Amino acid sequence: MLRKNVLVVLVFLPLLATAPDAQPDGESCAPATCGNLTIKYPFWLRGRQPAHCGHPTFAVTCDDATPPILNDSYLRVLAIHYGNSSVVAFYASLVGGPPCLATRFNMSSTLALSLLAISRANSELLLCANCTRTPPAGAGAVAVNCTGFRGGGEWFLSLNPMYDPGGPALAEETMGCRYSVVPVMPGSELRSVRDYAGLVRRGFLLEWTVPGDCDACSASGGQCRYDVGAMAFRCFCPGGRLQPATCGEFVKAMQFFLLVDQHAG
Ligand SMILES: *[C@@H]1O[C@H](CO)[C@@H](O)[C@H](O)[C@H]1NC(C)=O
Ligand SMILES: *[C@@H]1O[C@H](CO)[C@@H](O)[C@H](O)[C@H]1NC(C)=O
Ligand SMILES: *[C@@H]1O[C@H](CO)[C@@H](O)[C@H](O)[C@H]1NC(C)=O
Ligand SMILES: *[C@@H]1O[C@H](CO)[C@@H](O)[C@H](O)[C@H]1NC(C)=O
Ligand SMILES: *[C@@H]1O[C@H](CO)[C@@H](O)[C@H](O)[C@H]1NC(C)=O
Ligand SMILES: *[C@@H]1O[C@H](CO)[C@@H](O)[C@H](O)[C@H]1NC(C)=O
Repeated sequence: MLRKNVLVVLVFLPLLATAPDAQPDGESCAPATCGNLTIKYPFWLRGRQPAHCGHPTFAVTCDDATPPILNDSYLRVLAIHYGNSSVVAFYASLVGGPPCLATRFNMSSTLALSLLAISRANSELLLCANCTRTPPAGAGAVAVNCTGFRGGGEWFLSLNPMYDPGGPALAEETMGCRYSVVPVMPGSELRSVRDYAGLVRRGFLLEWTVPGDCDACSASGGQCRYDVGAMAFRCFCPGGRLQPATCGEFVKAMQFFLLVDQHAG
């Protein structure tokens, strides 16, 4: 029985070795951990795993002192939800400073990571700067003292439960402000200016879409990979073969041979 198994494997070996883009791999892309996060495709740990373990945009730099950095940007990752392809991250540049600094913040220009979009499930924090009018009482706006910062007028913070990617047209129309939008977690509440630091630090939701069907590859018995040279998704199949989508026919053939072998034994 044992000899027969060895024979089957030997028959397969030359086939595998001729796979054109075969590469040494093995267990090097096994899920890794960084703090309390599990890092697996499309994420990968820069410096600890080879680049083909994940997509370039989802390079995570693990620095034990602070939440990990995403793709060398200002984004720091607090949680990764693989089930619904979303990430909770915060902007390091906003944390620790006064709300007045958020005027420098422009989400659409800062977030050049095209495969990650700010989730519409978020709420949004509006920093209304240089306002020409005082917001009506009951609008939920809290005054911020930004004396000494660029722009005059009055400054306010308010919270909109719905994140609006088109920008806060209402705030502009009703208060005549320059505004900045900072996404915050769904269900956030703003009672006073003191809540700002905590809201920014809790982060916001981002949703990712990456080329390739990782679930289908995994279901076919493969592991998800990224071919850095070809800039394309690959499915790493048993025996070391890289396929464009799933292990499909190859795994079926393996199972067939094993079945034949069992019956023969
Ligand atoms: C994971 O660690 C971060 C700090 O690095 C913390 O903010 C977060 O709450 C932790 N999450 C869980 C689920 O423990
Ligand atoms: C994804 O699921 C997690 C946990 O179930 C949840 O907290 C998060 O809000 C979800 N993400 C989105 C974008 O709805
Ligand atoms: C943010 O940046 C985008 C693109 O760079 C620009 O079109 C938009 O006007 C900016 N918004 C603000 C509020 O500065
Ligand atoms: C990752 O970050 C770099 C800059 O650090 C940027 O040039 C690149 O576009 C980012 N990757 C993607 C795919 O957005
Ligand atoms: C606003 O801050 C400035 C400088 O920090 C201070 O001089 C001023 O008294 C503050 N104004 C109010 C209304 O608290
Ligand atoms: C602030 O508002 C005043 C008018 O109230 C205007 O003259 C000034 O240019 C504005 N500053 C900025 C930076 O928008």
